[in-house]
Amino acid sequence: MNVLVLKSSILADNSQSNKLADYTIEKLKGHNIVVRDLAAQPLPHFDATAATAVRGEPKTAEENALLALSDELVAELKAADIIVIGAPMYNLGIPTQLKSYFDFIARPRVTFQYTANGPKGLLQGKKAIVLASFGGMYDENNNVTNYLKAILGFIGITDVQFAYAKGIGLGAEAIENAQRSARNKIDEIVASL
Ligand SMILES: Cc1cc2nc3c(=O)[nH]c(=O)nc-3n(C[C@H](O)[C@H](O)[C@H](O)COP(=O)(O)O)c2cc1C
Repeated sequence: MNVLVLKSSILADNSQSNKLADYTIEKLKGHNIVVRDLAAQPLPHFDATAATAVRGEPKTAEENALLALSDELVAELKAADIIVIGAPMYNLGIPTQLKSYFDFIARPRVTFQYTANGPKGLLQGKKAIVLASFGGMYDENNNVTNYLKAILGFIGITDVQFAYAKGIGLGAEAIENAQRSARNKIDEIVASL
């Protein structure tokens, strides 16, 4: 299987979600794994030039370069059977670096299309595993989980499983417990693939 791992923590080696991503990579050894660290190699912010590039009519060299970048990201995503997403909560949402990724891959007629019955996702048969890390304790109804379910569903990825490391701000023991519980869940998810 082809696996695409998207890391998005700004905390590099101190990141809880990066640790979970590395653990998942280890568990998926033997598969074809591509890792994209969106914090180490950030995409540009999605501005008017980027919108013209991916949703309008690119003309300038800058717009064409941004379209080529989007095409590369979409091709990488389309090639993946499994998408692993490291998703820290920062200021009640996903990292801006991960949001930029979705802005560059959400493309009308490429990854979704509007129909008479509403939007339809064009990516089919893919599974996603989200590795979410929170400083506090949140239930499943939180902005990170809700947004990721919504945006992945929007492009057609509805088979999404979550492993959580919660309570990272509550001290060393809490971190250890959070990592253990998330790793147990990852074991379960990987066994179910
Ligand atoms: C800039 C910043 C903002 C944060 N905002 C929140 C927040 O809104 N809610 C929360 O529960 N934790 C928050 N935290 C704590 C992180 O969710 C926690 O450190 C988690 O481990 C981040 O994932 P990472 O270690 O993979 O980067 C924040 C941390 C940082 C650095």
